[in-house]
Parts: sequence; structure tokens; C-alpha cells
Amino acid sequence: MDYRTYIAEKLKIGTLSTEEVASMLEVPPTSDMGDYALPCFRLAKTLRKAPPIIAETLKNSFTEDEVVCGVTVVGGYLNFKINRLRFAEETLKEILEKGEKYGSSRLGEGKTICIDYSSVNIAKPFHIGHLSTTVIGGALYKILGFLGYKVVGINHLGDYGTQFGKLIVAYKRWGDKEKIESGKLRELMKIYVKFHEEAEKDPELEEEARHYFKLIEEGDRESNELFAWFKEITLKEVQKIYDRLNVKFDSYAGESFYNDKMQPVIDELKEKGLLQYSDGAAIVDLEKYGMPPCLILKKDGSSLYATRDMAAAVYRKKTYDFYKCLYVVAYQQDLHFRQFFKVLELMGKEWAKDLVHVSYGMVSMEDGAMSTRTGKVVFLEDVLDKCVEKAARIIEEKNEKLDNKEEVARQVGTGAVIFGALYNNKIKDIVFSFDKVLNFDGETCPYVQYTGARCNSVLKKGGEIGAYSVPSLTEEEYAVVALLGAFPDVVREAGEKYEPSFVTRFAVELAKAYNKFYIANKIIGSEESVKNFRLALTKATHTVLKTSFRLLGIEIPDQM
Ligand code: ARG
Repeated sequence: MDYRTYIAEKLKIGTLSTEEVASMLEVPPTSDMGDYALPCFRLAKTLRKAPPIIAETLKNSFTEDEVVCGVTVVGGYLNFKINRLRFAEETLKEILEKGEKYGSSRLGEGKTICIDYSSVNIAKPFHIGHLSTTVIGGALYKILGFLGYKVVGINHLGDYGTQFGKLIVAYKRWGDKEKIESGKLRELMKIYVKFHEEAEKDPELEEEARHYFKLIEEGDRESNELFAWFKEITLKEVQKIYDRLNVKFDSYAGESFYNDKMQPVIDELKEKGLLQYSDGAAIVDLEKYGMPPCLILKKDGSSLYATRDMAAAVYRKKTYDFYKCLYVVAYQQDLHFRQFFKVLELMGKEWAKDLVHVSYGMVSMEDGAMSTRTGKVVFLEDVLDKCVEKAARIIEEKNEKLDNKEEVARQVGTGAVIFGALYNNKIKDIVFSFDKVLNFDGETCPYVQYTGARCNSVLKKGGEIGAYSVPSLTEEEYAVVALLGAFPDVVREAGEKYEPSFVTRFAVELAKAYNKFYIANKIIGSEESVKNFRLALTKATHTVLKTSFRLLGIEIPDQM
């Protein structure tokens, strides 16, 4: 039941629609003030009356019923108390019936959303800087899918550029096939770094690299085989991390996929008179829009990152007919996206308005290490391993006798890394700290997981949940119910604002509310009907905690 709409329908204010009134209703900061409140200040101007008077008039024309059972005026607010028992019964019933589907919707039915995320670079390290795009994109994929959209996860691989010529040179000189096969990506990177060191002494190497890159482009068999092999090694390795983080992709069409799809875009730019030449390079002037020019072709005729992105956008529109196309990429690339979105708009692509840069902040490590070119790279794999290892140690200390400790350590350690990147508003820069993400008492992943495991153990002890009907609710019970009832709205807002942190924060709030309830209200040992109600509340909490975490890609252990 949607209480906002229910109240709004009964209120009828002037010419305002039900939706408008519903959206004005707020949830007061403390529940003794009521469950919903209408601030009448905003109505004062149109109704030409003082807010308390408006509130009083509205109150007098409102008839209470079994759904809304208390209306009061406090200052300029009109406060509503809903029938909490009814609300609790309805909410629990719905959750227990729908199970893991509770919170899902058909909002996005018939609409496709492309999500370009993670988009790693071939033969380059998968480092801590890729954490956010991978888990934010992964969470949006699940959240939007849960809201009924058809989602297409795209890994726009960085698989084009002169670096592949360099890699071939490096491999031919210092590469050892077996070593690379077994040492994989890191071995490949080693020879790449060596290339740069050697090239400083011997500039001929650069020339040679350009030659090989050209060979790749011209379709030379051997060079392309090597290139395909580098790609395979990288993808195999990244796949392991994707599996650990619970993310998946429907397409790995990377930059090189657009080699033969850029010319039509370039031709169209020319035709529409948008292309200009400056120092031999082809550009689109964006001065009018307060931006530097968008580079389309280099002096030597080779294409650029933006050219590929434009061809990719056109291809995606044609292939998927998207409703929205999201790019989960760090804010360093803000300008790049603004530029090529604008160029597409100037080309007359009306769908350019549906391209969205989902920008996010940087992740750095507590000890100052960051993903830079200087070799101080923090591999995501190492961060995951270390966090799982640390989790294992903590679990050993806290609960030595726990069954399948290793599995739990994996769930806790991996979850903590994901949660660390999804807890804050995505645009904020974050400093990653192992101690912080693994703290069992803060607003953290283990805290929520522990609460989930607690629910599970209560349910096990409680046995089957029989019939219940309760005469009243405690404040703690109601606080849990109110959150449970808000879950569908939270998911919808997270999807609308592309902000998975809404779900993360919600899970923490729900865990906190449940623990408060657990401490203040006896479950097992209470009178039968009360016990059953509290077990149902526990079961609903467990379900919703699990769903929220599943949408983020985090597992909740059965025991902890
Ligand atoms: N590979 C790029 C990088 O590491 C990110 C690609 C993002 N996606 C895109 N369509 N431009 O910076």
C-alpha cells in the first residue's frame, strides 16, 4: 500500500494533483511527530493564508479511517499517524510472499539500458583505480535489472593503440612464452615496462613499435595473433576478478571493434560541416559551448579515443536501441564525455540526450599508494587477497569454532572491498583502509553481514512461524517495519539517480534498527503470537538484507 498516495488522495488541495501532493509529504525526523507530515509553508503563497491556518483547515476536512488514524497540527505542519499495525501486517505479508523479489518492479519494462563499465585496458594492470567503475557498474546492472529494465553490460576494452606495437617489440626481444603463460598479466607488464626503459636509451625501438602497430592495423597475421594472445591472457585474468566481485558483461566489444565503424561517423561530420582542420588535425570546434575542441583525427590520419566513443554510441543505439546509455567512468574524463556527447548532439542525434556519464571519485590507499604509471601500482587482486586474509584472522579470533571459516572469510573479505567502494556517494574520493572496512562494529559490511547471520540463527532457533496478530507495536518493531516498507522506494531512487550507495546506506540502517529491536525485544520465550510476529519480522529483515546486498554483489553468510 502506498500511504503517500492514499493520504494525498484524501487531502485534495486546490488544483494540485495527487502526485504533487504525495511528493510533498515528508517523513518526520522522529516518529512521535507522526509517520508522514505535510509542510504547509509551500502552500502559503498560492492559498494566501498562514501555514498553521492552512494546516488547520485541511485537518478539519480530513476524515480519519482505519488506514490513517490520527491527524494533528503542529505549527505549520499537518502530521499524520498511520495505522501501524495494519502497515506492519501488510508489509510483512508482502515480503514473506514475494521473498527475494520484494522491491523489484516493472518500472523499466520494454526499455533497454546499456552500461559501459569496468572497461579495462589490455595488457595493463587491473588496479585499485578500477574498483569503483567495476562495482558501481556491477551494482547498477543488478539494480536496474531488478527494476525491470533490460540491461546490457558492456566492457569497452582498451584494446587499441600504439602500446600493442610496443608490446610486440618487447615480447620479441625479451618475452618468454612459458613465463608469460604462467606468470600471466604481470609478466606481460614487466616486459612492457622494460620496453620504456630500453626505449629511452634506444629510440629506434619506438620506430619499430610503430611499425608493428601498423602491421596489426594492416591485418598482418603474426602480429594479430600476438595481439589476440595478449588479449586472451588479460581477459582470463580479469575474468577471475569479475567472478570474485560478482559482475558480468554481455559484450566485450572494445575500442578495436570500432576500427571499421568510424569512417561513416567521420563522413557524416564532414557532410554536416562540423569538421575543421587545425594544424593538419581534424577537430570539431566547441568554443561556443565553453569547451576545447574535440579531436577526431590526428595529423597522421589516425583516430582518437573520442572518435571510437562516437562510433560506439552510434553502434549501441543501432544495436540495442537504448533508452539510456550509461558510462561509469571516473570524473577525470568529465570533459571527454561532455565533448563527444555535444558533438553527437550537433550531428543531430536526438538520442544524445540519453547518454549519461555516471561520474565517480578516486580511490587511493591509506598508505598513500595509488595507481600511477610509476610502478607503484596497487593490484585489485592483491587488495582482495589481503582483505580475505585479514578477515580470516579476525574470524579466527572471534569465532574459532565456526564451520567453513574459509568460505566465510571469502564472503566477508570480498564484501568489505565492494562495500568500501559503494558506501559513499559515488562522486566522493575515497581512501581505502583495511581496518576501516573490516571493522565489525562500524557502519560496515561485516556489521551488516553479522546482522544477517544473526537473523538466520534466530530463525533457526525459532522454528516454524505460526499465526500472529499483535495488539500494538513497540517503537523498535515499528522502526524496522518502516524501513522494510521503504525498501522498494530506496531501490527505485538508487536506480533513478544511478546511486548504489542509497542501497548500501539502507542496508546499514536496517541492520542498525534490527539490532536495536533485537536487544530491546525478547523474541524466543515471548508469548506465542508475539514470538511469531517477531520471527516474521526477523525473516523479513533477513530477506531484505540479503536482497540489498545481492544488488551490490555482496553475499551474506549463514553463520558468522
Ligand atoms: N579504458 C578506459 C580507461 O581506462 C575507460 C573506457 C571507458 N569507456 C568509454 N566508453 N570511454 O580510461
